[in-house]
Amino acid sequence: MAATSERTKRPLTEPSRRLGAVPVYMFAELERRVAQKRAVGIDVISLGIGDPDRPTYPEIVEAMQVAVADPANHRYPSNRGREEFRRAFADYYEERFGTHIDPDTEVMPALGAKECIYHLCVAFLDPGDVALAADPGYPVYTGGPALAGAEAVLVPLLPELEFAPDLDRIAAEDLDRGRVMFLNYPNNPTGAVAPEGLFERAIELAREHEILVVHDNAYSETTYDGYVAPSFLATPGAKEVGVEVFSLSKGFNMTGWRCAAILGNGDAIASYWRLKTNVDSGMFEAVQMAATAAVTGPRGPIEEMNAIYARRRDLLVDALRDIGVEVKPPKGTIYVWAPVPAGHTSASFAELVLEEAGVVVSPGSMYGPSGEGFFRISLTAPDDRIAEAVTRLREHLA
Ligand SMILES: Cc1ncc(COP(=O)(O)O)c(C=O)c1O
Repeated sequence: MAATSERTKRPLTEPSRRLGAVPVYMFAELERRVAQKRAVGIDVISLGIGDPDRPTYPEIVEAMQVAVADPANHRYPSNRGREEFRRAFADYYEERFGTHIDPDTEVMPALGAKECIYHLCVAFLDPGDVALAADPGYPVYTGGPALAGAEAVLVPLLPELEFAPDLDRIAAEDLDRGRVMFLNYPNNPTGAVAPEGLFERAIELAREHEILVVHDNAYSETTYDGYVAPSFLATPGAKEVGVEVFSLSKGFNMTGWRCAAILGNGDAIASYWRLKTNVDSGMFEAVQMAATAAVTGPRGPIEEMNAIYARRRDLLVDALRDIGVEVKPPKGTIYVWAPVPAGHTSASFAELVLEEAGVVVSPGSMYGPSGEGFFRISLTAPDDRIAEAVTRLREHLA
């Protein structure tokens, strides 16, 4: 009894130590700053977050409208996913990537890639385990392991390797403790595409060290200049050691729908499924039907979106060059990743652009220490806003 009364309890609203160790989600902070500026009448152009400005393609919306009107879809969905959903994604992978997926065991719905990546951390990591996370990288690769009580070890993406990691420089101890490795190509934030041999080397390491490779495929459909992005799962041996998360958010303008699929290693997917049945109750059947329409639908709208992004990318790249920022146009993703001008840090340059031009860009340091010295511009604002941003950058920062 005495021991209990003497124990110092933390205040009732204090979050768990695990949550306390995770920084406030970076875009939440950026949104707060933008709201403050707008509240005092400043017209801020937000090229921070990557959230497609165009609507979801009409065939998908129509499929949703029909599905949502059907009472059969109003009940709890199955966590495993509708058969037609799983088959549609398997067919898409066969046709688009040349990868065979068993619709019964090797694919299931996920409530967005973000959810999926976080839950894979909970499913596969224990305290003491390591997740190998790209730096710079999507923040959930570090936040997910921390929330799971594990540790993220940063693997730098090297500019001299076209923003690929040097997997052979990962310390032996980290490979020993490593249980999960996150890869993501086309890559956020750098816009890089997968260099030859990277997936093959990841598979070798995964086999040697019992590491589950999680390839975050959020941007394979958003590419330019004739580049066609592969699936990690198309690499021989990939399914033995890994899974891929295929998000509909960016390629299909569906960020609000929370819709993705996990595909690949059947045993890993079974563990994810086991976790998910304990955490949520699956994806709304109507959303599954809309997703099915998305991946069985025409390719035209995706090509049109890519033409729009390519035009915006070129406008921004030209404007950046005019203000002295040398930048390579990316072959994929919805981001331009650029070095900050001499004399600036990522944060000071983002601050300058916000204060002088009223344009939000993301400081590269938000994505990890190796992002320092860079900033990221998203292509997901309407054309007239991109044009206005370009004018302001030229006027205020030339
Ligand atoms: C690399 C990467 N993975 C995942 C996501 C999130 O995808 P979703 O909307 O499917 O959760 C993003 C969003 O920006 C991303 O950039």
